[in-house]
Amino acid sequence: TGDRIVLGIESSCDETGAGIVRLGRDGTLELLADEVASSVEQHARYGGVVPEVASRAHLEAMIPTMSRALEKSGMTLDDVDSIAVTAGPGLAGALLVGVSAAKAYAAALDKPLYGVNHLAGHVAADTLEHGPLPSPCVALLVSGGHSQLLLVEDLAGKITEIGSTIDDAAGEAYDKVARVLDLPYPGGPPIDKLAKTGNGCAIAFPRGLTGPRDAKYDFSFSGLKTAVARWVENRERDGLEVPLADVAASFQEAVADVLTGKAIRAVKDLGVDTLVISGGVAANSRLSGLAAERCAAAGITLRVPRPRLCTDNGAMIAAVGAHLVAADAEPSGLNLATDPGLPV
Ligand code: KG4
Ligand code: ZN
Repeated sequence: TGDRIVLGIESSCDETGAGIVRLGRDGTLELLADEVASSVEQHARYGGVVPEVASRAHLEAMIPTMSRALEKSGMTLDDVDSIAVTAGPGLAGALLVGVSAAKAYAAALDKPLYGVNHLAGHVAADTLEHGPLPSPCVALLVSGGHSQLLLVEDLAGKITEIGSTIDDAAGEAYDKVARVLDLPYPGGPPIDKLAKTGNGCAIAFPRGLTGPRDAKYDFSFSGLKTAVARWVENRERDGLEVPLADVAASFQEAVADVLTGKAIRAVKDLGVDTLVISGGVAANSRLSGLAAERCAAAGITLRVPRPRLCTDNGAMIAAVGAHLVAADAEPSGLNLATDPGLPV
């Protein structure tokens, strides 16, 4: 039929993902399967991802996750035409598990192997839900490991970083503030929930790097995290009750305000008309709500994939693989190396 089946493998952090995408002859993408096994519960007691624990979990989950994806898609390994795998950025040992598995499948099936950038994957996730992206567009990538503004010209090649965090990632700030507030890891969902019952204007927490001389598109969240910790400490020292919901809402407001403010500024400065927000933090209700408000007011098209596609998964890697196949890109070959610090 001319359709091509692309298998995507993701293992850069604590999610083992296997996704299967059909690339139509007309270039359309169809999501056939998206199976994810997470080791997040094994990391919860440490308050963050433990690399060795993640690697071992990938090793155990890789083949079962792959089998489930094939089963859900109704495909067999023989139907797979190309294999895409996250080559970086990410945890060194975790990446190795996925890349080794992908090489084994590529060698056994004699199919081309494509090394994929994880960050491109987060952007490509949106094309599985909302179709092709206009070129160029701006992407705000916010997860536990990344906070970046990207100019996306071509998912198969040309993505440029225009800004990034100079310290903590947005999700990392959520996880650290959750610890201050005695909330479980990962901190995003419980803070989001608690914030709904609080007042986001109650406490004026600092908006990092928003002064006139600061880098226009860079972020800083470590000062905000410290400000929240200080504020809570001071209340406790004075023997006052800590209004947890107001603290959560005010922290969340500061994060959403800075992220949407800088993203919209980039969209306007660069003269594009579409903003994509992806990564685990894109699931945040205030971030998506405020972004929707501000984009509507500025005449910007906002695209946010459903939460399931925002967090790490194999389908988004298959989506980049499909874009590479469609663009007739050169496969990486079996000597593909992992690169924990791979730039976008
Ligand atoms: O993309 P992701 O699943 O993994 C990577 O880091 O690559 O993102 C996980 C991060 C965690 O820091 C988590 O606290 C945050 O996303 N997160 C949220 C929400 N859901 C998850 N942050 C804010 N609000 C949420 N609703
Ligand atoms: Zn990610």
